[in-house]
Amino acid sequence: TRVAIVFGGRSPEHGISCVSAGSVFGALDPDEYEVVPVGITRAGQWVLTSGDPAQLAINARQLPEITAESGADIVLRADPTGNGLMVLDPTEGPRALADVDVVFPVLHGTYGEDGTIQGMLEMAGIPYVGANVFASAAAMDKEFTKKLCAVEGIPVGAYAVLRNGMTLSEQDKERLGLPVFVKPSRAGSSFGITRVTDWAQLDAAVATARQYDPKVIIEAAVVGREIECGVLEGEAGGAPEASVLAEVRVVADHDFYDFEAKYLDDSCEYDIPAGLPEKVTRQVQEYAVRAFTALDCAGLARADFFVTPELDVYLNEINTMPGFTPTSMFPRMWAASGLEYPKLVNRLIRTAQR
Ligand code: DAL
Ligand code: MG
Repeated sequence: TRVAIVFGGRSPEHGISCVSAGSVFGALDPDEYEVVPVGITRAGQWVLTSGDPAQLAINARQLPEITAESGADIVLRADPTGNGLMVLDPTEGPRALADVDVVFPVLHGTYGEDGTIQGMLEMAGIPYVGANVFASAAAMDKEFTKKLCAVEGIPVGAYAVLRNGMTLSEQDKERLGLPVFVKPSRAGSSFGITRVTDWAQLDAAVATARQYDPKVIIEAAVVGREIECGVLEGEAGGAPEASVLAEVRVVADHDFYDFEAKYLDDSCEYDIPAGLPEKVTRQVQEYAVRAFTALDCAGLARADFFVTPELDVYLNEINTMPGFTPTSMFPRMWAASGLEYPKLVNRLIRTAQR
């Protein structure tokens, strides 16, 4: 099987995508897969890289980066015969991406997890791992995730949406209460998020979020434990399956589960499986599968929840291309569920071939 792994990309999560891809490369059995490692620079240039996992690790708190020098320049154009997308490698002559059996877009955030590359692959008629155009776009956007899940009866916290230029009304301040989380509506890895404990901080927090997205979402803080659940598309037409749950506990020095805590320091502890009563575990898993279905997801997703001290469950968000880094929850939850990393990757590639 010939698999193109596409990684890096134009989003702020560029470096995380590189680390995720490094782990995926390490898990692919060379006897089974011929890998085409396609990096995308922050500027959007596509390059054929070496795919060496050693170059895709976090080193002294520095995230890896794909640059124009990371590999041979490739350009994309539609195959005039309508048969896929051509990748033209100036050094080797044309290579057709249509020849790859499947594309695994290990891309997080905008231009990767939001339906854009999925649309390109749809037009080219190439099977790809993960959610389709609609589900990717819907799950990327915290506003529409909440709206679609709420109508399916999944509890979500109170929120307000500030479209371009809008400010939060006094009524909304009263309704949401403090603290609130101010977030770009379409971003990931906690980029642009501020926990606001005093309304005097709001304008600065909104400006920070708007560096990532003109649309900002203000969420009432749900006091509770941070619980995650992996979901995989069912095999052979079966129902989606939920993993065991993980709990993330921020134990030191951070206001919340922010970028540093996620990737750069040791401030978090993880319980896999999470220590929750059986009934609550089943409830979270059921909501995770329901959310996956509500958004029409495919392949994989990680659904993130809060569980309050009263054991009420609230959906926080859904990620259609969750992190695959060595510390990432998604592969660890599946390993704890009996699906080791290489088997997980095999299954994703298998379910993509539709
Ligand atoms: N957005 C990051 C990669 C995650 O959800 O894991
Ligand atoms: Mg996310």
